[in-house]
Amino acid sequence: MKIHFASSNKNKLKEATKILAIYKIKVESILLECPEIQSNDLEEISKFSVKYAFKEIKKPVFVEDSGLFIEVLSGFPGPYSSYVYKTIGNDGILKLIKDKTNKNAIFKSVIAYCESEDFIITFIGQTSGTISTKILKGNNGGWGFDPIFLPKEGNNKTYAEMGLEEKNKISHRKKSLEKFGIWFKGR
Ligand code: IMP
Repeated sequence: MKIHFASSNKNKLKEATKILAIYKIKVESILLECPEIQSNDLEEISKFSVKYAFKEIKKPVFVEDSGLFIEVLSGFPGPYSSYVYKTIGNDGILKLIKDKTNKNAIFKSVIAYCESEDFIITFIGQTSGTISTKILKGNNGGWGFDPIFLPKEGNNKTYAEMGLEEKNKISHRKKSLEKFGIWFKGR
């Protein structure tokens, strides 16, 4: 079984391909830059993007939207994670919360799947953790906020230090894709 994934992010594609393979779902990448609406709600953003992707390719398709929600910053950067990463980056995030004792954060992932103009379904995954006090890349390097996110289930290692295989067992993306995979296979 094959599904199209509209994304221009190679790291997301790699993760989604491995995770959905567990459900015997083959991911076909579509390099499509989907417009994103401004909203505080990842679900709303992903629904808009997947609708756009479906109109473009006219085939069943899914998108994934994610964000890092830092408690002491009232959820910032959340839906603005991509922009914040490109502008202030990991160093900027570490500086923003340098003097805060509360380092709690949640990584969220939303999968939106569309197969007709009036059929869109979403799946949410989230992983709780904390923001590290410094950049911890380990041997694998990671991508995005991987070097500063310490998942609770991660034995005090950042996503980057864990490496792809270990990250894929507990990540926010794993949890949303797992729900999607189970739903898709069970139809
Ligand atoms: P978007 O879902 O493409 O809008 O991206 C959100 C941003 O959050 C990305 O550009 C990354 O910087 C970051 N991000 C999302 N998921 C991950 C992840 O699994 N690891 C590290 N950074 C991530």
